[in-house]
Amino acid sequence: MKKFIVANWKMIPLRAEAKALVEQLTSKVLAATNLPQIVICPPYPYLTFVQEMFSGAPIALGAQDCSSHEEGAFTGEVSVTMLKECGCQYVIIGHSERRHYHQESEEILRQKVEQALKQDLTVIFCVGESKLQRENEETYAVIKRQLEALPEKISHAPLVIAYEPVWAIGTGLTASFDDIKNAHDFIKGCMKKIGQETPVLYGGSVTGENAQEILSLDNVDGVLVGRASLNMESFWKICVA
Ligand code: PGA
Repeated sequence: MKKFIVANWKMIPLRAEAKALVEQLTSKVLAATNLPQIVICPPYPYLTFVQEMFSGAPIALGAQDCSSHEEGAFTGEVSVTMLKECGCQYVIIGHSERRHYHQESEEILRQKVEQALKQDLTVIFCVGESKLQRENEETYAVIKRQLEALPEKISHAPLVIAYEPVWAIGTGLTASFDDIKNAHDFIKGCMKKIGQETPVLYGGSVTGENAQEILSLDNVDGVLVGRASLNMESFWKICVA
């Protein structure tokens, strides 16, 4: 199976920067062969023009979040149907920045996943422990609890799990290879129990320098990249790692 390289642009690039990034990426992708599945997740207002700029290059579009509601009077929310109309095939749900800054509960996340799966969007569901939880040796209990928030009937659903230790996001710290291997084994084991063979991505300070080693680990099916996805030189290194 192809590895996934997912770019999470967060609320960082403005239009001109986003445009320049996609221009560079598209021309590189069109000239290359044997690439992984590249997924770009821009901020909502840029989804449509980014999708148009792919101009047929095999790059997929993803959103960074979605509403837990199907439609209606929910000011400021964006539904999965709208994301589909913008050309999204993927949606990130449960990123630690959403869990933390927006107090997204496990119940809300479950509803979001249900909405996304109803519309056949591939869900990139993020899990991972905080620094304190890690110090208290709660890593696996936390991951298990977060995975339990997934809806019960998801067998064969288009689902990808991203293991993102919170303390590694945007900090320049990455988990050790052993930590990554063990966490991914644990996640794959939990998913198998509910009948899912789910790809598991690693995220947290992935760079052009460390991507190759991380991606060569047996049970790493791809990476979720924040900061380094905003520099095309670094991001491309990750894509061809
Ligand atoms: P980072 O972010 O690569 O900047 O650590 C990863 C993420 O938040 O998904």
